[in-house]
Amino acid sequence: MSPHESHEPSVTPAEAWEFRYREQPQRWSGNPNATLVDVVGDLTPGRAVDLGCGEGADAIWLARQGWRVLGVDISPTAVARAHAAAVEAGVDEHAVFEAHDLSTWEPEGEIDLVTASFFHSREELPRTEILRRVVAHVAPGGHVAIVSHLAPPPWSEHAHHDEALLDAEGEVAALALGDDWEIVLAEHRERSVVAPSGDPGTLVDVVVLLRRK
Ligand SMILES: C[S@@+](CC[C@H](N)C(=O)[O-])C[C@H]1O[C@@H](n2cnc3c(N)ncnc32)[C@H](O)[C@@H]1O
Repeated sequence: MSPHESHEPSVTPAEAWEFRYREQPQRWSGNPNATLVDVVGDLTPGRAVDLGCGEGADAIWLARQGWRVLGVDISPTAVARAHAAAVEAGVDEHAVFEAHDLSTWEPEGEIDLVTASFFHSREELPRTEILRRVVAHVAPGGHVAIVSHLAPPPWSEHAHHDEALLDAEGEVAALALGDDWEIVLAEHRERSVVAPSGDPGTLVDVVVLLRRK
């Protein structure tokens, strides 16, 4: 995550995220999240949906592995950048991006893989409700891959997260899945990072992979 930027309290989540993306030409590294790559790398490609896709690096990586991916994000600027990156990578037929507020979004048809990497927000975000709604579309044999922060990075404004962060057990419990699901992975992994100050640090990620039987 990046340093906190202040904005008027009255702005909507869409406005806040659009502001964050517009204020810098590139917000994220452009590389896929290494943990996601590790966790879903062996899955058989099909139809994937990436929730809160940002600038599209995870979705583009998935498309390169043979997935047909829809990336959804609330920021039109992020979505435009993701599309441009997919064109640049030559995978824009397989990685498609749309701007929607996932709070009210319903996917169409069956999905083989739902990904949600660091799908967190300082603004109001009904994250669990969104995950449950989208996960209900996963086909038998399909997967859900969640990579999230166990705790906010020390340099971020913890107090500005509206939603409590969950541990691995909490992530799984929040989805309230039926017994047609199995837990493939639910764990915490340490990751070495460089803080915005340039100092080295360690973050702990929550990593969850679920499979519908
Ligand atoms: C921390 S970023 C993670 C981006 C990307 N998945 C990654 O790992 O680089 C969270 C993303 O969720 C998006 N987001 C926040 N609230 C949203 C909502 N209600 N609907 C859709 N996207 C949302 C933000 O615009 C942002 O791109």
